[in-house]
Amino acid sequence: MLLGTQRISSEGTLEIGGCNAVELARAFGTPLYVMDEAALRGACRRYRKAFESRYPRNLIHYAGKAFLCTAMVRIAEQEGLGLDVASAGELHTALMADFPPSRINMHGNSKSLYELDMAVRNGVGHITIDNRLEIEMLADVLDRYPGHVQGVLVRCAPGVDPETHRYIRTGQADTKFGLNIADGSALEAVRLVVAKPNLRFKGIHFHVGSQLTDAESHVAAIEAAAELIASISAATGTDCEILNIGGGLGVRYLSDGAALQVEDFADSIVGSLRSSLERYGLPEPILAQEPGRAIVGEAGTTLYTIGAVKTVPVLTGGRGSRRADSRTATRTYASVDGGLSDNPRPQLYEARYEAICASRAAEPHDRVVTIAGKHCETDVLIWDAKCPVLCPGDILAVQTTGAYNYAMASNYNRFPKPAVVLVNDGQADVIVERETIEDMVRCDRLPDRLVKPSLRDGEASIAPETS
Ligand SMILES: Cc1ncc(COP(=O)(O)O)c(C=O)c1O
Repeated sequence: MLLGTQRISSEGTLEIGGCNAVELARAFGTPLYVMDEAALRGACRRYRKAFESRYPRNLIHYAGKAFLCTAMVRIAEQEGLGLDVASAGELHTALMADFPPSRINMHGNSKSLYELDMAVRNGVGHITIDNRLEIEMLADVLDRYPGHVQGVLVRCAPGVDPETHRYIRTGQADTKFGLNIADGSALEAVRLVVAKPNLRFKGIHFHVGSQLTDAESHVAAIEAAAELIASISAATGTDCEILNIGGGLGVRYLSDGAALQVEDFADSIVGSLRSSLERYGLPEPILAQEPGRAIVGEAGTTLYTIGAVKTVPVLTGGRGSRRADSRTATRTYASVDGGLSDNPRPQLYEARYEAICASRAAEPHDRVVTIAGKHCETDVLIWDAKCPVLCPGDILAVQTTGAYNYAMASNYNRFPKPAVVLVNDGQADVIVERETIEDMVRCDRLPDRLVKPSLRDGEASIAPETS
C-alpha cells in the first residue's frame, strides 16, 4: 500500500514527498514522524470540494486533536479551513500561529474557567457547550467582558451507537459527551442559553464517533438533530443557524481495509440532511464539520530503525505450558526504536497497521513478522506485518500514522518525543523538534531534603546529554 506521494525509488527505497526515507532517517534520526504535505493539502481540498460542490453553505473545521503544531495550523488556514480546539494548549498553538480566532471552535467536556476565559478573551468564534454547568461558568466569565456576546453551539448526544471501537464511540446515550436529546436535556440547555443575554445560540453539534467506514450513524444522528432543531424552534422561536456534525470519516490503515470515499460520504450526508430538513419544514442551516483523521491520517508515516530480531517458539497448551510443540510454528519479533510512546493506538484500540521496509522497499514483502516496540510493556505495533526478512539497521515505515500518533505521544519510559518533518518536492523541514533526554528532566525539581551533597557542592560532574 503506497499512500499520497509515496513511491519506490530506482534504488529500491521508499520515497515520500520526493525525499528518500532512508536519508530522512539518517538526517533526522528515528523514530521520525514524516508528514507528506501534498497528501495533507490534497485531503483538505478533496474534503472541501466534496461538500462545497453538494452543499454550498458549509464550514469545515480541522479537528486539531488529530495532529496539531504551529505548521499544521498554518496549513489549515492556507487551505481555508476553520479550526476545532479542545484545550488551552490547542488554543494556544492556534493563536501562536496567528490563526484567526473568529474561525476557531472551542470544545471540551470539562472546560475550566481558565479555558473559557482564554477563549472569550481571544475572541474565539464559537464555544461548544457540553453541559449545564458550563452555561453558568461561561455566563460568569462573560460578566468580566461587558458588551461581549459569545456565539455558542450546544453539543447533543443523538443516541446513535456507531460501528467502531468502543473507546471512540461518542454518539450513544451512555456517553460523557454532550446533552441527551431523547430525555430533553439538550432542549433544556438551549432554553438556558437563549435566556442568557451574553450568549448567542448559534446551533447544535454532535460527534458520533471516529474511524467510521459508513455514513449510517451520521445519517441517524442528522435525523435526530433535525427533530431537535424543530423542537428548539417551536419552544424558543430560535433558528438553528449551524448544524455541526463533528468528524469521524475513517481512513485506510490496511491495504484490504474498507475506507469510505469522502464523495460518497458527502452524498449520504447531504442527501439525508436535505430530506430530514424537508420532513420538519426547516430552512437549510450552515453544515459545519470537524474532520481530523480524514485530513491528516494517511499523510503521516513513522520511520523506525530495526533493532534486535529474534525468533521464538510458539507454545501451545495454554498458559503455563513449557514445551514447544513440534507441530507449531515460531514467531519472529523485530523490535523497533519506538512503540507505545509514539503510537499508543494498538494498545488503546487494538488498532492495526501496515508497514513497508523503507530500506528494501522493492523486495517482496512476503514474510510474516511481529513488529515490537521497545517499551516495558508488550507494545506490539503490528502482530503480523508482511515484510522482507528484516535485519538490524533496516528502516521500517509504518503507514497511516498522521492522526492520533504524535498527538497522543507520551514520555513513557522517559522516551523523548520524536521529531516531525514535513516533506514536499524533495524538501524536508522539521516542524516539531525532537525532544532530548535533557527535556526528560527539565521539569523535575529536587526538594532540598533530597539534594545529595555532591550535587549541591557541584562535585558531581554530570555532563548534559545532547542526544
Ligand atoms: C468533538 C469532536 N470533533 C471532531 C473529532 C475528530 O474526529 P475524527 O478525527 O474521527 O474526524 C473528534 C474526535 O474525537 C471529536 O471528539
